[in-house]
Amino acid sequence: MFLYFKDGKEILSSIVSSQENIHHKYGGVVPEIASRMHVKAIDVIVNKAINKAKITIEKIDGVAVTRGPGLIGSLLVGFSFAKAFAWARKIPWVGVNHLEGHIYSVLLNNNPPKFPFISLLASGGHTNLYYVTSYNDFHILGQTRDDAAGESFDKVAKMLGMGYPGGAVIEKLAAKGDPCLIKFPRPLCNKNSKDSFDFSFSGLKSAVARYIQKNKNFINEQKADIAAGFQEAVLDILSLKLINAGKLKNCIDIAVTGGVAINSALAEKIKKNILNSKLKFHVPFKKLCGDNAAMIGARGYKLLEKGKLSKLKHDVFSRNRL
Ligand code: KG4
Ligand code: ZN
Repeated sequence: MFLYFKDGKEILSSIVSSQENIHHKYGGVVPEIASRMHVKAIDVIVNKAINKAKITIEKIDGVAVTRGPGLIGSLLVGFSFAKAFAWARKIPWVGVNHLEGHIYSVLLNNNPPKFPFISLLASGGHTNLYYVTSYNDFHILGQTRDDAAGESFDKVAKMLGMGYPGGAVIEKLAAKGDPCLIKFPRPLCNKNSKDSFDFSFSGLKSAVARYIQKNKNFINEQKADIAAGFQEAVLDILSLKLINAGKLKNCIDIAVTGGVAINSALAEKIKKNILNSKLKFHVPFKKLCGDNAAMIGARGYKLLEKGKLSKLKHDVFSRNRL
């Protein structure tokens, strides 16, 4: 993916090159295949983005690129390309933290949240709760101790034989089921953990696996109710922690970002749960929830504006450093 970004706000073009069709048959992302596909796609996507933005290469006066966390091989492709592009054109460039990019995705809304606000990043690799006090200050309040929220959707979809990625298929299936019929556990959500903003999804995933194993002869008739019961549990957990954090920090604005933020049932639940409070809920445009270049451009623009440039000796990183 690549894009051109005007004045830190206006998206001139945003091309997302998805590899979902390729990884679908393996039931998950295969890192080596992912980086090879990146090598094949990158210059094609860059050209597409330039053409769609109706600009020439000379008009580009800064480059932002994802530095990590993520899959090393794929990060390296984009990072090396951006370095070479900026070096050849003698323009500034900056490596951006992928997680900070997700936080910025909601700042591209027409009515973005105001500082300080709570931001829940729920994706395939992370479930992180942040207290965001300025464009550059992100304080982590809690994170998952095991699986990420999106990862649990992917794993349950696989158990139900629905393929990868699981979020969209589970949401669709859940809409046909009864969310109250099968009650799955909500780990770390008891009264005593009110102030604990950590998450845990592996116990919930195991409970679904045990249920499927016990009822394997009737699974086809129950798939929709299992999906609905599982989704209800995840959404209850996310909604509870986000709202508790908003109240504890005395914020007005709360937001969800990342691939799981696409889930409409999640937005509905949060809106319903804050009806009698002063909290206001924000979610990025659907096309900016999952991984995209616009959010990296938004974060990179602020860094470049402050003169925080990267150096040629800088490298990518695979693990969370935010
Ligand atoms: O942010 P993202 O595109 O990539 C990462 O940085 O991980 O998030 C991908 C995750 C996947 O686990 C996918 O199953 C989940 O987002 N997802 C959803 C939905 N659409 C995508 N989860 C729940 N409901 C959805 N509609
Ligand atoms: Zn992401």
